[in-house]
Amino acid sequence: MNELVVVIDFGGQYNQLVARRVRENNVYCEIYSYRTPLEEILARKPKGIILTGGPSSVYEENAATCTPDLFHAGVPVLGLCYGAQLMSYVLGGDVKRAADREYGKTETVFDTKSPLFEGIPEKSIVWMSHFDYISEMAPGFESIAHTASTPVAAAQNREKDLYAIQFHPEVLHTEYGKEILYNFVRNICGCRGDWKMDSFVENQIRQIREKVGDGRVLCALSGGVDSSVAAVLMSRAIGKQLTCVFVDHGLLRKNEGDEVEAVFGPNGPYELNFVRVNAAERYYAKLKGVVEPEQKRKIIGEEFIRVFEEEAKKIGKVDFLVQGTIYPDVVESGLGGESAVIKSHHNVGGLPDYVDFREIIEPLRLLFKDEVRKAGLELGIPEYLVYRQPFPGPGLGVRIVGEVTADKVRIVQDADFIFRDEMAKAGLAKASDQYFAALTNMRSVGVMGDERTYDYAVALRAVSTIDFMTAEATNIPWEVLQRVMSRIINEVRGVNRVLYDLTSKPPGTIELE
Ligand code: XMP
Repeated sequence: MNELVVVIDFGGQYNQLVARRVRENNVYCEIYSYRTPLEEILARKPKGIILTGGPSSVYEENAATCTPDLFHAGVPVLGLCYGAQLMSYVLGGDVKRAADREYGKTETVFDTKSPLFEGIPEKSIVWMSHFDYISEMAPGFESIAHTASTPVAAAQNREKDLYAIQFHPEVLHTEYGKEILYNFVRNICGCRGDWKMDSFVENQIRQIREKVGDGRVLCALSGGVDSSVAAVLMSRAIGKQLTCVFVDHGLLRKNEGDEVEAVFGPNGPYELNFVRVNAAERYYAKLKGVVEPEQKRKIIGEEFIRVFEEEAKKIGKVDFLVQGTIYPDVVESGLGGESAVIKSHHNVGGLPDYVDFREIIEPLRLLFKDEVRKAGLELGIPEYLVYRQPFPGPGLGVRIVGEVTADKVRIVQDADFIFRDEMAKAGLAKASDQYFAALTNMRSVGVMGDERTYDYAVALRAVSTIDFMTAEATNIPWEVLQRVMSRIINEVRGVNRVLYDLTSKPPGTIELE
C-alpha cells in the first residue's frame, strides 16, 4: 500500500493545490471533507494529516471544525491558515479578528531549529491571506515564526508533532513553501516518497488485466488528454478487448477528427478497435434555431449519448465502460473534499446509463492533471497530445455565441487555425495556457475594397491560468495580434472585425458560453 498523507478540506480554495504539492514529493495524498469521521480517516493509516484553509472563522457558529481527537491520534498534523487557527482554537488557544487583513507577500522570520523550517534561510517571503490571527497559542505550543504584524506566524508542539502555520506554503509566492512541505511529509511524517508514475502505470495495467479478464470494454474517446491517456492505458492492458468510439460532432477544431483517427485508428501505433462516427449533420440539425447556451450544451450532451448508445449496440455485449475521470472531478463532485459545486458543463456523471455493462473503470481516478500527463508520456503518447490545451466537451458549440450553423463552424475553425498557426510561428505556442478563436454573434458594418460589408466579429481569447478556475487574459504582443487579425480578415470569408477579449475570470468565464 502507498504511504498516504491526508488533506482535510474546510472549504478553502487551495486544498487541491496542497495535495498536488504533497504528491510532488512523491508522496500519495488524498483529500477528505472535514465532515468525514476521524475513524474513517485513521483507518486509511495516514502518515500525516494536513488541515487546509477555509472561508470561515473558527469561533463562528456552524464553522467547519474538527474533533480534538485528531490531534491526539499520534499522527503528525500540519495546520495551514484556517487549519492553523483551528488547531490552536480546538487545543485551547485563542483566535481573534485583526483590524486589518494581512494579505500578500510578507517578510517572515523563521526559527530554523524547528524541523519544519530546517534548511531554509532565517528570513524570507511568504504569502499571507488572513483576517483572524492566533492571539494565544494552545498550551504546549511555541512560536516558530513571526512577521512585523503577527507574532505567531507559525507555532509548534514538537513533542506531539503538531505544526500550525498561518501562511500558505502551497502557493508559489511563498519562497520556501516547497521546502517546508518537504520537511513536513518527508522528515516529520517520515514518508519514503515512493509514489512514482512508472510504478503507478505498471500497477494499473496489472489491476486492469485482473479486473477485466477476458471481458469486453468500451471507451468514449474525445481526443482530449484524459480520454486519450485512459484509452492508451487500457489498450496496453487488454489490447483488442477494448473498443474506442470517437464521436465527431462537427464541433471540433479544424482537422481534429482526422488527427484523432491518425493516432488511434487502424494506421496508428495502438492496438485497439477504433470506431469513428461522423455525426456533424445530426448535431447541426438538432442545434438549428437554438440560441440559449445551457440548452445547446444539453442538446450536444444528449446527442452524444444517443450516438454512443447506437454504436454500443452494434458492438454487442459490453462488460466494462471506461471513464476518463480524474482526481479533481472526484473532489469537485463532492466525493472527496468539500467543494460542493460541480459545474453542469463538466462531463462528470454524464453516463450513458442504458448501455448494459457490469462496471465502470476509471483508470485515472487517482491522478491530477499534471500526473495524467506524466502517465501519458510514460505510456509513450506523443507530447503534442499530452500537452494539449483543454477543449470543452461541447466543443465549438460553446465558442459560437447564438445559433450554431455549419457556416459559423467553418468560420471559427478557420479563424482558430490561423490564430494557433501565428502563435506557433511567433514561438508563443506555450505562452498562454488556453487560446482560441470564438464567434461573437455580432455583425457590423465594414469596408472591403470599395464594398460595404456586413459581417461577423471574431473574438480572440487567450488566458493564463494555473487551475482554470481563475484566469487572466494573456499579454500577447501587439504585432502577433495584428498579424492574426489581418490574416483572419483576408482569409476567412464572412468576418470583417477581430476583437481581443481582455476579460479575466472572474467575472468572465474562459469559454464564451
Ligand atoms: P469556463 O468556461 O467554465 O471553463 O471558465 C473552464 C475550463 O473548462 C473547460 N470547459 C469544459 N471542459 N466540458 C469540459 O470537459 C465542458 O463542457 C467544458 N466547458 C468548459 C474550458 O475549456 C476551460 O478550460
